[in-house]
Amino acid sequence: MTTRVALAGSTGSIGTQTLDVVRAENERAPGSYVVTALTAGSSIDTVVAQIEEFSPEVVAIADEAARHELADRISGVEIVADSVDVIETAHVVVNGVVGFAGLGVTVETLRAGKRLALANKESLIAAGPVVQPLRATPGAEIVPVDSEHCALHQCLRSSVQPDREVRRLLLTASGGPFRGQSADALADVGVEDALAHPTWSMGPKITIDSSTLMNKGLEVIEAHELYGTPYDQIDVVVHPQSVVHSMVEFSDGSTIAQLSMPTMHLPIGYALGYPDRIATPFGTIDWTTLSRLDFEAPDLATFRCLGLAYDAGRIGGTAPAWLSAANEVAVECFLEGNIRWNAIADVCVDVLERHDGAIPTSIGDVIEADQVARRIAEKIVEAQ
Ligand SMILES: NC(=O)c1ccc[n+]([C@@H]2O[C@H](COP(=O)([O-])OP(=O)(O)OC[C@H]3O[C@@H](n4cnc5c(N)ncnc54)[C@H](OP(=O)(O)O)[C@@H]3O)[C@@H](O)[C@H]2O)c1
Repeated sequence: MTTRVALAGSTGSIGTQTLDVVRAENERAPGSYVVTALTAGSSIDTVVAQIEEFSPEVVAIADEAARHELADRISGVEIVADSVDVIETAHVVVNGVVGFAGLGVTVETLRAGKRLALANKESLIAAGPVVQPLRATPGAEIVPVDSEHCALHQCLRSSVQPDREVRRLLLTASGGPFRGQSADALADVGVEDALAHPTWSMGPKITIDSSTLMNKGLEVIEAHELYGTPYDQIDVVVHPQSVVHSMVEFSDGSTIAQLSMPTMHLPIGYALGYPDRIATPFGTIDWTTLSRLDFEAPDLATFRCLGLAYDAGRIGGTAPAWLSAANEVAVECFLEGNIRWNAIADVCVDVLERHDGAIPTSIGDVIEADQVARRIAEKIVEAQ
């Protein structure tokens, strides 16, 4: 059977690696995967090359000027504005859009009863209470692409009664480029320092999130939303080699872990092939050279964003949406050189302190919460 794939965020880190997996699988078994649709923000040159290689039926480009430019440069493919208009073409939709902009793809893929290969954690975090009921749509399922949640997904398959048998989820964190450093030492770090991730090559937003441990915090909320595990049963352990991607501890004391060398090709392939495993091996381990695996507790005083995410998750309602929006604003400002690295956590603390306690019951509520939190974060940044 041919699996039809719609790829949202095709020009980014997840997007281009998804196309690597499709290419590799089709080399082994021609016609295994067809890319029916591509979506991007504005990176037209990359999109043109992808259209030439993968011949999608439809392409969505968010930026209006870029969309018109693409229409001038390419023929024989339908060009639309909104990523959600490509969903119907596919069996599986990969959401590799960055940030809150990925919300529509997450919601409409589930509403359409399709498999969602979810890399865009921000949509699930911001809209958890509204996304959850959509998972009951016949045919709808989320298969996580985030490597930690993909690891948990694989570990949880070993239990027939996870509700009864899971004692805790252990999310591993590389620790990012600033592992082991004090808050004082990090006062003046620059954008280039924060972008120098030791084990993963990713887009800029998630790379900065990894340097603050906000990424791990958001992943704690993501794990809670995906698996329904209470926050006091989700722990984070720093593991600098990024070989153990996460673990599940069971009621009988067993811990089951998923290991592979750090590459996103593996979790992307897992989500594309699920419930089968793809035939191309990615990230296999040479056990004769892998000399050690280290683990340590996270430094919550220096990396305040991790604790903040637990706080927001426990508050629930729109608090995770507020935190995620505040973080997006702060990270963008940091990348533009307008605030210091330490201020990312300061902005998030200040925004979360103003949370209004709302519970979202519709996507409109989630969008409103995102906008309110962004406005507050922007004012806080301006006042810095
Ligand atoms: N990269 C990783 O290894 C990794 C690992 C785990 C999870 N994730 C998650 O995956 C998601 C994507 O991360 P990434 O690192 O791949 O980001 P990235 O490299 O920055 O790529 C982002 C993609 O989103 C598109 N995009 C941006 N704004 C858009 C909009 N308004 N509408 C439609 N598309 C838009 C971009 O298009 P343009 O290029 O045209 O702007 C690009 O294709 C994030 O949620 C991240 O947390 C990533």
